[in-house]
Amino acid sequence: MTTRKNPDAPRKILVTSALPYANGSIHLGHLVEYIQTDIWVRFQKMQGHEVHYVCADDTHGTPIMLRAEKEGITAEQLIDRVWHEHKADFNSFLVEFDNYGSTNSDETKQYAEEIYLRLDKANLIAKRSIEQFYDPVKNMFLPDRFIKGECPKCHANDQYGDNCEVCGAAYAPTDLINPYSAVSGAKPELRFSDHYFFKLSADTCQQFLREWTRSGSLQPEAANKMQEWLGAEGENKLTDWDISRDAPYFGFEIPGAPGKYFYVWLDAPVGYMGSFRQLCNEKGLDFDEYWKAGSKTEMYHFIGKDILYFHALFWPAMLQHAGFRTPTKLFAHGFLTVNGEKMSKSRGTFITAKSYVDHVGNTEYLRYYYAAKLNGTMEDLDLNLEDFVAKVNSDLVGKYINIASRCAGFLTKFFDGKLAFGEMENVLGGAVGSGQTIAESFESRDYARALRDIMGIADRINGEIAIAAPWILAKDETRRAALHDICSRALHGFYVLSILLRPVLPELTSRVARELFGMNRDFTWHDLSVLPTRVNPYQHLATRLDPKLIEAMVAANKESLQPAAESRQRHAEHQQHTVAKEAAQAEIDMQSFISIEDFAKIDLRVARIVNAEHVEGAEKLLKLTLDIGEAQPRTVFAGIKSVYDPEKLKGRMTVMVANLAPRKMKFGLSEGMVLAASGETPGLFILSPDDGAQPGMRIK
Ligand code: 2FM
Ligand code: ZN
Repeated sequence: MTTRKNPDAPRKILVTSALPYANGSIHLGHLVEYIQTDIWVRFQKMQGHEVHYVCADDTHGTPIMLRAEKEGITAEQLIDRVWHEHKADFNSFLVEFDNYGSTNSDETKQYAEEIYLRLDKANLIAKRSIEQFYDPVKNMFLPDRFIKGECPKCHANDQYGDNCEVCGAAYAPTDLINPYSAVSGAKPELRFSDHYFFKLSADTCQQFLREWTRSGSLQPEAANKMQEWLGAEGENKLTDWDISRDAPYFGFEIPGAPGKYFYVWLDAPVGYMGSFRQLCNEKGLDFDEYWKAGSKTEMYHFIGKDILYFHALFWPAMLQHAGFRTPTKLFAHGFLTVNGEKMSKSRGTFITAKSYVDHVGNTEYLRYYYAAKLNGTMEDLDLNLEDFVAKVNSDLVGKYINIASRCAGFLTKFFDGKLAFGEMENVLGGAVGSGQTIAESFESRDYARALRDIMGIADRINGEIAIAAPWILAKDETRRAALHDICSRALHGFYVLSILLRPVLPELTSRVARELFGMNRDFTWHDLSVLPTRVNPYQHLATRLDPKLIEAMVAANKESLQPAAESRQRHAEHQQHTVAKEAAQAEIDMQSFISIEDFAKIDLRVARIVNAEHVEGAEKLLKLTLDIGEAQPRTVFAGIKSVYDPEKLKGRMTVMVANLAPRKMKFGLSEGMVLAASGETPGLFILSPDDGAQPGMRIK
């Protein structure tokens, strides 16, 4: 933690996450960082600090330009579309930016130019002619990634211009054998052109970076990397950085250099400033207070370890020499693996944010899992899908939610929702005292430790509930006081846990604050010092995660599927999930009510059985043909063979679920379900509507 003069005064903090490129979707790998940052920001806001969390789309560069061209739209149209997609994904995962901008903004342009001009004035910009591959068909210089050819080491074909994916060798594009343009296929020519460089090799840059590395702004692993890049004292290892690209390029033209554009990585981090400037304009904040050299505010960049080079070398050196403040700290995290391996399209583990939302739905589950794995270091993080399901179900639902779902009902039923007077030290599980330690874990981004401590409290609370057994006490009228005591203490514990979990589970804990404890706002950390006195009737809070949803998500992301089949399959699976999710919900919370909206999701229809027949080879099934007023009758396989003679069913009216996802069975596709009653006594009875009901009528 930063040492501050007055530890009680609110801190002023500017936080950023890396800007995602505007030419691809947000996937589960990206989300590690956004969730990590969002948790930290929410935690700091709960402490009462003034925190601003900004981000933006990273919109410039050749890949975006070419992709727009391929889609037949302008780059502006492409980045506008992707911006909305990204924003929707972040909203789904409850990543709450104070401003989400775009590097293609006036604000970013202004600061990029300002920084460049100040660097130029400080004599830190050099112009040099360099030789590069040029595509004579597309009339453009080719970035390394757009040149392919034979690897000079292992002779594998179709390798990129910077490194070989077969043998791992790194080389210059000019080393490739028989190079060709990946854009047009043409044989590239070598041509000269003027480029602008940021003179990182200048003594002032090297010296500054050496000092900055030692200032505690980096995690130990990152500081070691920096030492490697900088080399030993006196050994000038850094080379100048090429910050310009030739037209055609989608980006900002360099002032005073027509036809030359800022390289995307020059204006990307400037996007942090541009986005913050927009927030300042909107909220009346003082931009300079945060960005001027010598600023007393704190500034943190959350990034992946792969972009440390840009953030630890180029960015601070640029800021320093252009008269701006430098970052207080860089927080780098590792990569995401899924089931212990790199995310892979063929294994179905390259999962987009949207696909997760479509299949699993609840995004706080992933927030919880990532939090349980994040420890503030640069180690990689593994999303083990089996462990994900197990952890969500055992910790979140089985430990945390369980406390309220087992005890809250008794309080409303027998005590009008009133909680027995609570002493802080009596709160179950030693919950209150741990607030400080848990705050320190959140502060140091060791969310794994925070959640271990939080679940430790939940375990102790559940242990005490099990011993007191309120469900037994409730049966004995003479033991009301004991019942009131255990349930009140359990709910006080639940209240404390909910406060501690808020950074990770903002939506769920907001419901707890508002619906259960009747507050008109969300929790703050200070709420730990006041216990609630009442609860409202308990409403269902969370459902177990069904492993089938995960299986279906992975299946739907396997790239071997044909696109059309894939989208059909996703659609069908999505329908199945909706039903499976409802079933799982019903199972876990038998006592809770469903809303009228829940009920309305089931499309119940009057059906006429036009035909009923035996199915060869099926022991229990009859094949029913049902008219529900649609152009084509539906086929449904029903397990009623033991009780119904098909002949007698023909012409009868019954009731079917018409929006159940079609199910492929051994004997054919079943397109719904017929409703039947059964109980403990033998028999199975299909339902019939009253006389006069017509096929296709809706049952509501
Ligand atoms: O690596 C990336 O995805 C970049 N778009 C990150 C940019 S972060 C910041 F510098 F803008
Ligand atoms: Zn090779």
